[in-house]
Amino acid sequence: MAQLFPRRFGFFFRLGLLAFVALAVVAAFAWRATTARPAGLNDPLQQPVAFSHKHHVGDDGIDCRYCHASVETSAFAGIPPLSTCLTCHSQLFTGQPALAPVIRAFESGFAFHWQRVHQLPDFVYFDHSVHVNNGVGCASCHGPVDRMPFTRRVAPLTMQWCLECHRQPEKFLRPPERVFDLHWSADDQQVLGRRLVAFFHIDKQRLTDCSICHR
Ligand code: HEC
Ligand code: HEC
Ligand code: HEC
Ligand code: HEC
Ligand code: HEC
Repeated sequence: MAQLFPRRFGFFFRLGLLAFVALAVVAAFAWRATTARPAGLNDPLQQPVAFSHKHHVGDDGIDCRYCHASVETSAFAGIPPLSTCLTCHSQLFTGQPALAPVIRAFESGFAFHWQRVHQLPDFVYFDHSVHVNNGVGCASCHGPVDRMPFTRRVAPLTMQWCLECHRQPEKFLRPPERVFDLHWSADDQQVLGRRLVAFFHIDKQRLTDCSICHR
């Protein structure tokens, strides 16, 4: 049979097909990169079990550090392992349907994969212990967690947001014993704040240095 097209056409056709496939792969990655981000402001997430800070913190008064054990000592606050839940739930409410996923996961030995509510980009350095030990309360960044049946993000976590406090920490600082208090407020924040900047020896000049957050 006579050739319909010159041989070169086949080459360009295949080249075009290859380019198309490559483009589709790039587009698929780009789509994932823009859609698979952490929750937006105030979005509740689909978690493996409906864990409620409102019940555990607000109603039952459990301290943050019982579950987020490393928040005062390391960069990472820590997410509790299932064994922490089981210290109570091996006895409490074991028959509740809401708890079934916890018991099942514990017995099968598979860890939960909690969806992240907060997630900074990799090129930003953040450290919980520095903040918590220098008079910055959980509530300043996470809001009234004890009233949240689903954990939500209340702060934008943009660079601008970080810098608003780093430029004027006196507007936010609180006494060390109030860091875990979610509903504390000062009588006169300006006066107290300025005193606390001195008390914690905070060097405001250094706090706006690019290299403290981008190392
Ligand atoms: C009984 C255990 C428990 C206690 C007590 C507790 N938490 Fe949590 N916390 C969890 C679990 C489990 C998650 C992961 C599921 C979720 O996001 O709701 C979590 C998630 C969070 C997150 C979101 C983490 C992320 O993915 O970005 C914040 C913020 C948080 N907790 C703050 C607090 C604060 C502040 C307190 C104290 C006022 C506190 N928690 C007390 C168990 C606990
Ligand atoms: C210090 C004890 C304690 C620990 C630790 C604890 N719980 Fe609970 N949990 C309770 C109590 C008490 C209730 C009943 C809450 C209520 O209704 O006020 C409860 C209720 C629940 C419920 C039923 C729904 C609800 O919110 O009432 C779920 C689900 C649950 N807990 C999950 C967890 C998970 C997941 C963990 C580990 C991250 C955990 N709990 C750790 C004491 C605890
Ligand atoms: C200065 C703001 C700030 C303060 C104060 C703060 N957090 Fe966070 N928290 C963040 C940011 C930002 C992230 C996300 C970190 C990341 O993506 O690396 C986060 C993440 C978390 C997480 C998820 C695990 C992790 O470490 O990434 C938990 C749990 C949490 N915070 C609990 C707490 C508790 C409890 C307190 C109070 C004792 C607290 N935070 C105080 C800003 C803060
Ligand atoms: C509400 C106030 C507040 C907010 C919001 C805040 N910070 Fe800070 N930050 C502080 C204070 C206070 C210090 C302690 C300064 C000191 O030790 O002199 C600090 C210190 C730091 C340090 C220095 C750690 C070190 O090694 O000395 C880093 C890094 C940092 N913050 C990152 C961030 C990032 C990133 C964000 C935003 C996601 C943020 N901070 C949001 C108040 C805040
Ligand atoms: C207190 C912490 C902090 C300091 C200080 C800081 N940044 Fe950032 N920066 C962030 C955070 C958080 C992000 C990511 C969130 C965002 O993009 O707003 C970021 C993002 C960026 C980006 C990515 C571009 C973008 O908008 O997404 C650049 C570039 C950048 N910072 C440059 C700088 C430079 C230059 C300085 C010094 C003048 C600086 N940063 C100081 C916290 C900080």
